[in-house]
Amino acid sequence: MKRTNYIIANWKMNGTEKSVSLVKSIQKHILKKRKNSAKIVICPPFTALGGLIQKSKKIIKFGAQDVHHEHAGAFTGSISALMLNQLGVKFVIIGHSERRQYQKESIKELSKKINSALSKNLKVIFCIGETLDEIKKRSSILKKQLTSLPSKFTGNNIIIAYEPVWAIGTGKTPTIKEINSIHKSIRRMISNKIGKEASKVSILYGGSVNQNNSEDILNLSDVDGALVGGASLKSKDFCKIIDSSN
Ligand code: 13P
Repeated sequence: MKRTNYIIANWKMNGTEKSVSLVKSIQKHILKKRKNSAKIVICPPFTALGGLIQKSKKIIKFGAQDVHHEHAGAFTGSISALMLNQLGVKFVIIGHSERRQYQKESIKELSKKINSALSKNLKVIFCIGETLDEIKKRSSILKKQLTSLPSKFTGNNIIIAYEPVWAIGTGKTPTIKEINSIHKSIRRMISNKIGKEASKVSILYGGSVNQNNSEDILNLSDVDGALVGGASLKSKDFCKIIDSSN
C-alpha cells in the first residue's frame, strides 16, 4: 500500500515572521530537486503562520501546533480551527506530549480538538507516545491515547506521529527495528477501529530525528515520514532529512 510520506517541521516556540529566510531556503532546495516524494509541512508558532503562508510557495504547506475545540467564544488566548482555516493553514498538530504535559491536555479534550479541526478541513497530525516510565506498558498507553480519535477517520484527514516522550530532544531513539515494529502495532491498533482504511494512514516517527539517523528511519517499511523538532530549525539539517526520505 502506497501511503503519503510527510516530513513535518515542528518549530515549537521558535521563529517569527522573520524566519521566512529559513522557509525560503527549504523551498529553494525542494524546487531544485527533480523529484520529491514527501510532502513538506512547516508548523511555526501561531504568530508567524499568516506572514509565512503569504510569503511562501504552495509546495510548502503550513500547520499550527495546537487548536482550541470551539470555533469562537470567550476563550482568551486561544485560536480556533475556523481561524486557522481562514488563514490558509492546512494541518494542525494535536496531542503533542509537551502540551499533554504542560497544558494537561486530556484524552477527552484532545478528542474535542480533533473533531473541531476535522470539521474545518484541517488535517490532524495526532501525536502519541509513552514516557520512559511507561515503556513496559507502551502498548496499553498507545491504545488509550488512540481513543481520542473519532470512530471513523481516513488516511486523508488523520496522520499519526509516534513520538516516544523520552526520545524528544534527548538524542536517544528506539532501535531501528523497534521503531518499525511499534509502527506496525500502531497500525494494527487503528485497524481495529477503521478496518482496511488503516493501511492508508501515514504513521510518522518523531523524537531526535536528525540528518544522521533520518535515512535509516525513513527507509523503514512502516514509517511514512518524520516529525522533526530541533533539526527542523536549521535549513541544512532539515534539507538533508528531506533528501533521505526519497
Ligand atoms: P526533536 O526532534 O527536537 O527531538 O523533537 C521532536 C518533536 O517533539 C517533534 O514534534
